[in-house]
Amino acid sequence: MKILVTGGTGYIGSHTVVELQNKGFDVVIVDNLSNSKIEVVDKIEKITGKRPEIEVFDLVDREKTSGFFKRHNDINGVIHFAAYKAVGESVEKPLKYYRNNLVSLLNILESMIETGVENLVFSSSCTVYGQPDELPVSEKAPIKKAESPYGNTKQISEEIIQDTVKVEPVKAIALRYFNPIGAHESALIGELPLGVPNNLVPFITQTAVGIRDELKVFGDDYNTPDGTAIRDYIHVVDLAKAHVVAIDRMINNKMKDKFEVFNLGTGNGYSVLDVIKSFEKVSGVKLNYRIVGRRPGDVEKVWANPEFSNKELGWKAEKGLDEMMESAWKWQLELQKEQNNQ
Ligand code: NAD
Ligand code: WQD
Repeated sequence: MKILVTGGTGYIGSHTVVELQNKGFDVVIVDNLSNSKIEVVDKIEKITGKRPEIEVFDLVDREKTSGFFKRHNDINGVIHFAAYKAVGESVEKPLKYYRNNLVSLLNILESMIETGVENLVFSSSCTVYGQPDELPVSEKAPIKKAESPYGNTKQISEEIIQDTVKVEPVKAIALRYFNPIGAHESALIGELPLGVPNNLVPFITQTAVGIRDELKVFGDDYNTPDGTAIRDYIHVVDLAKAHVVAIDRMINNKMKDKFEVFNLGTGNGYSVLDVIKSFEKVSGVKLNYRIVGRRPGDVEKVWANPEFSNKELGWKAEKGLDEMMESAWKWQLELQKEQNNQ
C-alpha cells in the first residue's frame, strides 16, 4: 500500500510518515519545503530504517500536481497536511492563505479524480468550533464563523470535500486536531520553529533555553479555575497514529459514510499555567513568564469529546501532559546541540 503524504516533511506530517512506515506502508512525500527542511527525510530514515520517497514541488501548481499523480499511478490514499498555518499571518495576508490552502486542495482533488485515487485524509482543526456552546465539544457541535482567514480555509476545505464526495468516486475523512505538541521520543524530528513561535509550547522551550527573554501568558481573567485559557493538548505521536488508523479504515472499506469527521484530542483540558507547571516539573527549569492582556481572537476554553473517535476508530490518545512536555524539551535541547555544532 502506497500513501501520498503532502506536507510530509512538516511537523505532523513527518511523525505520520514514521508511523505509516512502521506499519508497513510505502510513503511518497510531496512538500515544497516552505516550512520544513529536506534533512527531515534523513531523520525519518534513521528512525524507521526506511527512506520515504520525496518530490519537492508546490501543490498550488496544477500541472505539476497532475503530472505527479499520473507518474505515481500506484497510490492508494492521500493524507493532505500541506498548508500554511500561522493564524496571525493569515489575518495580515489573507490571499496568501486562501491561495495556498484552497488551490492545493482543489489540485489534489482534481488529480485524485483524474487518476482514480479514492481515499483522502484531510488535516482540519478544532478552530472550526470557535468557542463551543457546550464542553467537551463533539463532532456534532455547530461550526462557528471563523476567527481568521486560516480558520476559514479549514471550514471552506471541509465544505469543498463534502460537496465533492457527494458526486465523485472519492471518500474522505477530516481529522479535527486540537492542540498538537511534543516530538518523537528519538528527538530526531519535531516542530521546526522558523522565526518567533506563535504557539505556546515552542515559546516555552525557547524561553527556557534563552532564545526568548520571557513567556507572555495571554490573560488570567478568563472564566477558568486559574484564570488562564484552557486547551486540549495532544501528543503529536498519538495524533500521527490516528492518521494510520484513518487510512486503514478507508482502504479496508470500514467507513460508514463517504465523508466522516473525527475529533483528535485527549478529552482533557489544561490551562496555560498547568502547561508551565508541567514543563517546570519535567525539565527542572524555572520558566520566566509574565501575565499580560488577552490575545485577540483567543477562545477561553476548548477541549474535545473524543468518544466518537475512540469508539469508531478504535484509537485513543495515550500520552499525558508531562510526557508531551518532556519530549518537547528533549527536542529543544537537541535543536540547541545541532545549532552549537554548526
Ligand atoms: P507544518 O508547517 O510543519 O507542515 C506543513 C508542510 O506543508 C510544510 O512542510 C510545508 O513546507 C508544506 N507545504 C505548505 N504549503 C505547501 C504547498 N503549497 N505545496 C507543498 N508543500 C506545502 O505544519 P503542521 O503543524 O505539520 O500542520 C500540518 C497540517 O495540520 C496543516 O494543514 C495545518 O493547518 C493542520 N493543523 C495543524 C495544527 C497545529 O497546531 N500544528 C492544528 C490543527 C491543524
Ligand atoms: C495555546 C494557549 C494562548 C502563546 C492555535 C490555532 C489553532 C490550531 C492550534 C491550527 C492559548 C496561550 C500562547 C504565548 C500564551 N492550529 N499562549 N502565550 O491558539 O489554541 O491554537 O494552534 O489549526 O487553529 O489557533 O494555540 O499554542 O497559540 O495557544 O499564553 O506566547 O496558550 O493564549 O490560550 P491555540 P497556541
